[in-house]
Amino acid sequence: MDLRTLLPCVLALLVNLYGLHGQTSPNISLGSSITAGSNTSWRSPSGDYAFGFYPISGGLYLAGIWFDKIPAKTLVWTANRDSPAEARSTVQLTAAGRLLLNYFNSTVQPIDSGVLASFGLMQDNGNFVLKDANSADIWQSFDSPTDTILRGQGLATGRKLYSNSKGTIDYSTGNFMLEMQSFDGKLVLSAYRFADPGYWLIDTRGSLVFNLSGFMYIVNSSNDTVYSLTRNIPTPVEDYYHRATINDHGNFQQFVHHKNGSNWTLVWSAFDDPCTANSICGVYGMCSSPDNETQTCNCLPGHTPLDPDNVFKGCRPKTVMNYCAENSRDNFTVELIEDADFVSDTLGDLSHVDNVDMEECKKAIIDDCNSLAASWANSTCRKKRTPLVNAKKSVSTKGIKALIKVPIKVPINPDIPKPTNKKKFNSRAFLEIGSIITAILAFLFGVAAIYYNPAAQRFIKRKYSLTGNTIGINFREFTFQELQEATNGFNKALGRGSSGQVYKGILLLNNTHIEIAVKQLESDIEKSREEFMTELKIIGRTHHKNLVRLLGFCIENDQHLLVYEFMSNGTLSDFLFNKIESPGWVQRVDMALGMARGLLYLHDECHTQIIHCDIKPENVLLDRNYTAKISDFGLSKLLNKDQTRTDTNLRGTAGYIAPEWLRNVPVTTKVDVYSFGVMLLEIICGRRHIEMNRVEEESEEDDLFLPVWVVSCVISGNLETVVSHDPEVLSDFERFERMAMVGLWCINPDPIPRPSMNKL
Ligand SMILES: *[C@@H]1O[C@H](CO)[C@@H](O)[C@H](O)[C@H]1NC(C)=O
Ligand SMILES: *[C@@H]1O[C@H](CO)[C@@H](O)[C@H](O)[C@H]1NC(C)=O
Ligand SMILES: *[C@@H]1O[C@H](CO)[C@@H](O)[C@H](O)[C@H]1NC(C)=O
Ligand SMILES: *[C@@H]1O[C@H](CO)[C@@H](O)[C@H](O)[C@H]1NC(C)=O
Ligand SMILES: *[C@@H]1O[C@H](CO)[C@@H](O)[C@H](O)[C@H]1NC(C)=O
Ligand SMILES: *[C@@H]1O[C@H](CO)[C@@H](O)[C@H](O)[C@H]1NC(C)=O
Ligand SMILES: *[C@@H]1O[C@H](CO)[C@@H](O)[C@H](O)[C@H]1NC(C)=O
Ligand SMILES: *[C@@H]1O[C@H](CO)[C@@H](O)[C@H](O)[C@H]1NC(C)=O
Ligand SMILES: *[C@@H]1O[C@H](CO)[C@@H](O)[C@H](O)[C@H]1NC(C)=O
Ligand SMILES: *[C@@H]1O[C@H](CO)[C@@H](O)[C@H](O)[C@H]1NC(C)=O
Ligand SMILES: *[C@@H]1O[C@H](CO)[C@@H](O)[C@H](O)[C@H]1NC(C)=O
Repeated sequence: MDLRTLLPCVLALLVNLYGLHGQTSPNISLGSSITAGSNTSWRSPSGDYAFGFYPISGGLYLAGIWFDKIPAKTLVWTANRDSPAEARSTVQLTAAGRLLLNYFNSTVQPIDSGVLASFGLMQDNGNFVLKDANSADIWQSFDSPTDTILRGQGLATGRKLYSNSKGTIDYSTGNFMLEMQSFDGKLVLSAYRFADPGYWLIDTRGSLVFNLSGFMYIVNSSNDTVYSLTRNIPTPVEDYYHRATINDHGNFQQFVHHKNGSNWTLVWSAFDDPCTANSICGVYGMCSSPDNETQTCNCLPGHTPLDPDNVFKGCRPKTVMNYCAENSRDNFTVELIEDADFVSDTLGDLSHVDNVDMEECKKAIIDDCNSLAASWANSTCRKKRTPLVNAKKSVSTKGIKALIKVPIKVPINPDIPKPTNKKKFNSRAFLEIGSIITAILAFLFGVAAIYYNPAAQRFIKRKYSLTGNTIGINFREFTFQELQEATNGFNKALGRGSSGQVYKGILLLNNTHIEIAVKQLESDIEKSREEFMTELKIIGRTHHKNLVRLLGFCIENDQHLLVYEFMSNGTLSDFLFNKIESPGWVQRVDMALGMARGLLYLHDECHTQIIHCDIKPENVLLDRNYTAKISDFGLSKLLNKDQTRTDTNLRGTAGYIAPEWLRNVPVTTKVDVYSFGVMLLEIICGRRHIEMNRVEEESEEDDLFLPVWVVSCVISGNLETVVSHDPEVLSDFERFERMAMVGLWCINPDPIPRPSMNKL
């Protein structure tokens, strides 16, 4: 062929590839910029990748990098996934050497690390780098991946990928995370917003490599391969584009795309069953995948979507039902779902019963009002508590029968779709959620500062030792006669705790009257006097501003009485829930912190560790200054409860009980942390964890178990709705958010990742 006839073709090709709308000089010099909506981009020399503004729906753009030669123009990295830019926004490598995203509304977002660059480079491997005058890298897009890694990139220890919210429709940060954990070196996929410990993991210390031949594997610190992910890829490797992406259903997958082809082909997948990811259909949702291929979300029977436009957000009960109320049996039925299961105990399995048939399993949950559902297979009945988060019906749940309680009553508010909070994509909220971990850490450091700051410690110590003796008496034994007189013949009952009746009394001591509360222990005490005294002395030795002081005791004629300082402002429960006027935010925050300090003391700072086992608002009392003080600590041991084994005679109250209570595992201080978490949410939200006597109308969210509601608000990015009625809290929203996250952290169903009080 004549060269002259070829020339126009070559020219046409060149124009097409690099032409008018793409800068292809390898160096991007200072002062260069690209503009959203103008077809300008920075191409890699081969033209395989482009850095520019990627159009998404709504006329908005993401500043990012994509495969530029294939029809799909697949996006692999973006600098602003949670705040898309309008047309005419620019990315600029400034004359000074900064890489900045200038939104059209004048907001400026730095993309680089702040170190001044000499030039930039869109490389042929898909990495955008900024270099200094010596051509050394000072920033690269490979170091801050979004949902995709490319050949040569990998995932170093501590790095994370976050799924996007919805395929090629919504690129904002989604629910799933792939993390190469730095503390124990595991590669983990998790529904991180649910405090999920992970639904898929590879337990080898190392980092993930995606090598130039297109293989992914994990290497240990001496660069030896310890685990291979990719098994097979088509060759020759250079004929294909490669990428590995965490998708919006929480799967991590590797794809190849023939350079002349028209689609991405899957070459490796973390798992097959698309219903594997935890919480994929949200709270009370169910994932169905009959064939390993497709996946749909539906609500469990008796439930309706939180947001009819987005089934992934989960569901809520159509009717609220207190299954523990008298005669509730008449008002619900148990429905069966074939070939389905409530997988893993993300928010808590109750006990399981062996050697039962399905009818017996059904009866077991009918009889157990704390249990909402069960799964039955192979003669084993596994009872589940509310909320249900991992229901699925897929290839892996064949043969399992799922049972769930469903109210019969016609709902009072028939099934009108909820006026959902259609607040348009709120990028600020999203960013905040994206930084949950940061928020928790920030809170940790804040509180830790109190505990680990020596000056603060001294201050706290001084305070304790000052207050230690203000009451003027030392722990001692009283005679029954003395207490009978002090309480005027036990004629003024203050109320009834879980372990006995409490009476008010007045002691005359050194000419001063001291108000006391006398608790008459009810249960048969099997301990000998010596054993009983040993336990009592442990309690008597505790001195802390946030603990109700035990002043003494009386053991006479089978009577066991405990004498406490009197708390004039009653229980936290009454203060929070039974008042006409709701208590102030600052006061509530102080109380929550006070309780945390009291518990920390019991767990870590006092002579003998004390597990409370019954933390709830009824067991927190308020003194005349409204200082929160924990009461009844040490009683579970005093009253002969065996703390090391499953205790069928539960002391804790449903809703505050940690899931492991009912399993055959040792009870640790983490049970108190769980109860504290539920209570913390109650205190900051100003409502009970479960609404028993709900007044009709309006806020349908009140229907939900509080932690579930908080979680679902976090997921949908509108935590504000939880406290929308309270301007005082809204004005201090950041603090509220931090405390809410700590609360959710404390109610992690797995006691191991759940923090201990000294971490708070
Ligand atoms: C890119 O710029 C740097 C620094 O100005 C220079 O050293 C290098 O030679 C340039 N490379 C090309 C390919 O122009
Ligand atoms: C960008 O380029 C495409 C195709 O090359 C063209 O259809 C479109 O009109 C261009 N847009 C602008 C704003 O120039
Ligand atoms: C400008 O737009 C961005 C992206 O939508 C947004 O994050 C930012 O808050 C806006 N700034 C102002 C001042 O409106
Ligand atoms: C990539 O990894 C595969 C599998 O471990 C190996 O066969 C290949 O040689 C590696 N290629 C490079 C360029 O390191
Ligand atoms: C492991 O390999 C990487 C990349 O090839 C290299 O930078 C590093 O020095 C190696 N480390 C060891 C311990 O060999
Ligand atoms: C890395 O793995 C290799 C092969 O399993 C092993 O021999 C080596 O000791 C490991 N290195 C480290 C630092 O664990
Ligand atoms: C793609 O097609 C062109 C023209 O048919 C051919 O020259 C080129 O080698 C092909 N590329 C690959 C990677 O097969
Ligand atoms: C995808 O591409 C491969 C190879 O290029 C081809 O074999 C396959 O038929 C394509 N699939 C679809 C659905 O287009
Ligand atoms: C679905 O995936 C599971 C697990 O990998 C596998 O055992 C099963 O054969 C697959 N079933 C179908 C229908 O593809
Ligand atoms: C059961 O339903 C009846 C009739 O709707 C109602 O009056 C009663 O309060 C319900 N009982 C419980 C425990 O929900
Ligand atoms: C029931 O037991 C059989 C045999 O032990 C086992 O193959 C099957 O997977 C079990 N089914 C379930 C749902 O656990």
